[in-house]
Amino acid sequence: MVAVLTPAVLRRLAQTPELLAAAVPGDLRVGASLRERWPADLVAAATQQNALRARAGGRLRDASSMMLTAAGLEQATSSAVAAHRAARVAASVSSVVDLCCGVGSDLREFAGAGLRAVGVDRDEAHAWCARYNSAGAPVVVADVRDVSVGRAEAVYVDPARRSGDRRGGSEPPLSWCQELPASRVVVKAAPGLDVSLVGSGWEVEFVAEGRDLKEACLWSPGWASAGRRATVLPAGDSLVADPSTAPAPVRPPGRYVVDPSPAVTRAGAVADLSAQLDAWQIDQRIAFLCSDSRVSTPFGRVLEVAASLPFGVKPLAAELRRLDVGAVDFRRRGLAGDVEDLRRRLRLRGSRTAVVLLTRAEDKPWCLVCFAATFS
Ligand SMILES: C[S@@+](CC[C@H](N)C(=O)[O-])C[C@H]1O[C@@H](n2cnc3c(N)ncnc32)[C@H](O)[C@@H]1O
Repeated sequence: MVAVLTPAVLRRLAQTPELLAAAVPGDLRVGASLRERWPADLVAAATQQNALRARAGGRLRDASSMMLTAAGLEQATSSAVAAHRAARVAASVSSVVDLCCGVGSDLREFAGAGLRAVGVDRDEAHAWCARYNSAGAPVVVADVRDVSVGRAEAVYVDPARRSGDRRGGSEPPLSWCQELPASRVVVKAAPGLDVSLVGSGWEVEFVAEGRDLKEACLWSPGWASAGRRATVLPAGDSLVADPSTAPAPVRPPGRYVVDPSPAVTRAGAVADLSAQLDAWQIDQRIAFLCSDSRVSTPFGRVLEVAASLPFGVKPLAAELRRLDVGAVDFRRRGLAGDVEDLRRRLRLRGSRTAVVLLTRAEDKPWCLVCFAATFS
């Protein structure tokens, strides 16, 4: 039985903590015994709630004590990203209106950062969850278009993504969010956002968690401190793309490769990273950087080059045999081809795992066999 998690059902669940503690997704025997004590629809709702909490586990902190809906969880901001944004908001204002607050993953981080936070969502179940998850922050059930924010100190909007819309369309649309009549506005957008849609004077912050690019966060001119910025969590290191930075020099591959974080490439900050590391590009159009010294950076993965050669299946297979490589993680930039077909043709048999970069060096098809750089 699939339960519908309405506000009334969510409220009943919150009042029945012993049922929530006992319900186990996928365990029919436990389900049958719980139904002897509670109505079947409530047991189904508790089981579903616990399945959602388990799914949220790696992404939302304290997920086991949250109240969620499937749609709300799918669209919720990860706690690390929400906490990073909340800290930046709290550094300059003391209150924020969270438009389209969903189940409240951002809202509870705003409250946790010491901000007076008010949520707005037109979905009653989401609004109920947001109130519960933020330990009682006020949440209004309304269409955000009917809310006046003119006197708000700051406004945050995380519009709903339109599923299947490859151009990154949202409800409310990005243009509506950017026209909000408040002096400080911050908007969450998809990382693939077409940056030409961003108003002049706004900052675009590309945020990655580890190597996973999560979002483009847009800061209104009243807040912006850069044009484009790359931020890498959990540490929160941040690299600003400076339009006056000279392009990285282009030279043959060196002893180490830096594979920049997707936040850095999206922010257009590869030249800035290159200048910071005193590194170079191996091709004008390819974002792998090289260095002859063992660099360390939060803005990319550092690999040690074990072999550097023009691309060809036979010579690459020979190098992988020589280096005892049996498993390969391919990274392809600037070189077309079917990676799985290549993997079959390489007939890997060794005991080590390598990263193979399929790329171009000074406009020639090139490959680099690499291993993770170790730091002693
Ligand atoms: C991406 S989710 C928000 C997620 C939230 N920031 C979080 O981390 O949990 C978008 C929310 O916008 C709400 N929404 C979409 N259009 C709206 C509108 N016109 N007025 C109010 N809420 C709206 C949806 O109900 C949904 O809960």
